[in-house]
Amino acid sequence: MKISVLGLGYVGSVSAACLARDGHTVIGVDPNPIKVDLINGGKSPVVETEVGELVAQHAADGSLSATTDAAQAIEQTDIALICVGTPGQDNGALDLTYLERAAGDVGRALVGLDRYYAVVVRSTVLPGTCRNLVIPTIEQESGLRHGVDFGVVMNPEFLREASAVYDFYNPPKIVVGSDVGDETEDADDRAVDMLLSLAPPTDAPVVRAPFEVAEMVKYVDNAWHALKVGFGNEIGRICHPLEIDSHAVMDIFCLDQKLNISAKYLKPGMAFGGSCLPKDVRAINYHARSHDVDLPILGNLTASNETHLERAVKLILDTGVRDVAILGLSFKAGTDDLREAPMVEVAERLLGKGLNLKIYDQNVSLARLTGANAKFIHDHLPHIGELLVDDIDQAIDTAQTVVVGNSDPAFVEVVDQVADDVNVVDLVRIMTEPPERANYKGLGW
Ligand SMILES: NC(=O)c1ccc[n+]([C@@H]2O[C@H](COP(=O)([O-])OP(=O)(O)OC[C@H]3O[C@@H](n4cnc5c(N)ncnc54)[C@H](O)[C@@H]3O)[C@@H](O)[C@H]2O)c1
Repeated sequence: MKISVLGLGYVGSVSAACLARDGHTVIGVDPNPIKVDLINGGKSPVVETEVGELVAQHAADGSLSATTDAAQAIEQTDIALICVGTPGQDNGALDLTYLERAAGDVGRALVGLDRYYAVVVRSTVLPGTCRNLVIPTIEQESGLRHGVDFGVVMNPEFLREASAVYDFYNPPKIVVGSDVGDETEDADDRAVDMLLSLAPPTDAPVVRAPFEVAEMVKYVDNAWHALKVGFGNEIGRICHPLEIDSHAVMDIFCLDQKLNISAKYLKPGMAFGGSCLPKDVRAINYHARSHDVDLPILGNLTASNETHLERAVKLILDTGVRDVAILGLSFKAGTDDLREAPMVEVAERLLGKGLNLKIYDQNVSLARLTGANAKFIHDHLPHIGELLVDDIDQAIDTAQTVVVGNSDPAFVEVVDQVADDVNVVDLVRIMTEPPERANYKGLGW
């Protein structure tokens, strides 16, 4: 395929060199004439393993060239990859000047082209940028229509500097954002197909998603990487004064790919609770303080959790009704353990606001029946114990709001079948696909 690459920095130079190696004809575009001259002279504008050799080879065989004139490149190609910088401003906001200019250049170059053209955004941009900036800018400058005359696709780049060529051929995933699934527009698959035909042979999963999901994924990845670095460093800081080898600790931590390095505990849902997490987070922070060690990430976990719990309470109060059914009281389905269960705290706050509650939890009721947790409820939560009912129907019969507080599968049917005028506040995403009813509210979805 014939490809324009706009922006000859790290991402653009690596992509251009690798795509030329894969047999495509690539024209790089950059307003910086030094970078353009470097490429045309067979030299890489960036220091990156293998890229120098690839640029030399493909500038010589004519499959890789560069220009400062976007129109000249676009006229000779079928698809443009936008790899321009999106630097941060002092206040953290993104500077989209380069992206807007590149989209404008593409739009003006499309005037009179008279054939379909695909535009791929590879720069890292916040959700909404493709839909609200890139597409309108190209439409405005070209007078053409997205999805008809040209297509825009978001394809975030996951390469790491210093291993960028390796990463180009071994991506962790390929994410393609487009207007797929939009009800208001006919999804245009041509640009997506053109982009995917450029992908190197790989076992990486290919995921199609709406624009905003694809845009968000890149930020979630980088926030996660930053959080991991900060977490590891804080573990190092607390281990050091105790003369514990932090690397030995983290080696063991990383061995556990079932719970630690895994998809567990990462889906947005209810605040954490139970007999271990809250207590142990407090203990490690107390221990750090007693050694004068400052742990800003670990030290704020409890505050973060509290914010989440407050949000859950607010969602329920915002339904504006007095009769509420809580389904699920223990901190997770399948246990009767009520120690530091966040739903107990939610129930107490709702009671404090004068709401009428009925609470159903199969395991808590069962344990109460057998006497197992009767003493705990009697000693610690007598006011909550009085509100427990023994079956779901009894809990929901007069409820105007049903709150799902843990993931007992029995609650799926309740949400499916509850009357249309009853509000549902789902704190755990019990429904794989949230129902499309206006009075269904999720905690983070
Ligand atoms: N560097 C990385 O490791 C990496 C990895 C993944 C994603 N990203 C993202 O990719 C994007 C590019 O990053 P980078 O590190 O390659 O940036 P960079 O600053 O190294 O290069 C950007 C290039 O774009 C050029 N440019 C500016 N306006 C232009 C225009 N109108 N037309 C054509 N070129 C133009 C600049 O002259 C510059 O050469 C950013 O959004 C970045 O966040 C970077």
